[in-house]
Amino acid sequence: MTERLAPEQLTRAAALLRAGGLVAFPTETVYGLGADAGNAAAVARIFAAKGRPRFNPLISHFAAAEAAFAEVRADDRARLVAGRFWPGPLTLVLPRAERSRIDPLTGAGLPSLAVRVPAHPLARALLREAGVPVAAPSANRSGAVSPTTAAHVLDGLEGRIEAVLDGGACPVGLESTVLDLTGPQPLLLRPGGVPEAALAALLGPLGRPGAVAEAEGGLKAPGMMSSHYAPGLPVRLDAASVGPDEALLAFGPPLPGAGATWQLSEGRDPVEAAARLFAGLRWLDAEGRRRGLAGIAAMPVPPEGLGAAINDRLARAAAPRPPA
Ligand code: TXA
Ligand code: MG
Repeated sequence: MTERLAPEQLTRAAALLRAGGLVAFPTETVYGLGADAGNAAAVARIFAAKGRPRFNPLISHFAAAEAAFAEVRADDRARLVAGRFWPGPLTLVLPRAERSRIDPLTGAGLPSLAVRVPAHPLARALLREAGVPVAAPSANRSGAVSPTTAAHVLDGLEGRIEAVLDGGACPVGLESTVLDLTGPQPLLLRPGGVPEAALAALLGPLGRPGAVAEAEGGLKAPGMMSSHYAPGLPVRLDAASVGPDEALLAFGPPLPGAGATWQLSEGRDPVEAAARLFAGLRWLDAEGRRRGLAGIAAMPVPPEGLGAAINDRLARAAAPRPPA
């Protein structure tokens, strides 16, 4: 049984975390599946509950920047962007500090560590109350669409985790931007809630992991598998027309003739669209299957601001699936 906790039951959620339990909690981006990042057994249970490959490292969450920077070697660039965007939807990948309390399993044995200070008031209160760094991937089964409500969390993880702390819908709706500062060139590992241009304004142009990955003989972005965020129905991108056997993900005035329609943003606002994206993919999938539709057609979204992160998630939702 998974306990469903109201915000007032925060102390219960924190106690479960300290005791090695798995507790899903809201952040401003998506719901995270939390465990004490220093407890190897608890962290191992995150991988098991999600069906996540052990080579894919987790982000550690903190109530304050000083606590995060005690676990990594932060340079001036890290302090600059953290000063501007923490608390908020930015994750920094930095060299692990020698005396870090974070269990190596949390970081998948890598010499780097991903750290983030979330902005959601309930997440911050939980982190303060728990008093330990909290490892948390998105609270979905590996490869599935990320959860932006407690009900989404239970859809995938009911019975597999101790509790979910229900804080309503996540306001940003897309995961954090993941920025790698382990080398001289800042790298954008994952577009997300902080637009690339806002980071580039402070750091100069950001690189991409692909170019260096091969040179360094390893994966800079171990979690960026091409197929991810995948609903059950196939997804078709850049739809210019739609058939009656398709469900439509609309952005602006909807194309006519779809079998079902979810509006991301009537007024073509990328911030509103981001907040409605994952709920929309889940709804279109369920509704489309109920009506016997063949797939989901997505209207194009311009790549400005959060549009880049939206397109990244849609491209992964549409990517060829690995055999089940
Ligand atoms: O918004 C978010 O970031 C949410 C909330 C819960 O904080 N969390 C989240 O976690 O999206 P997850 O595990 O679904 O995605 C974390 C990403 C993965 O792509 C992972 O590979 C990458 O961050 N990552 C974590 N540690 C890393 C490291 N040391 N080096 C490179 N990439 C890392
Ligand atoms: Mg995820």
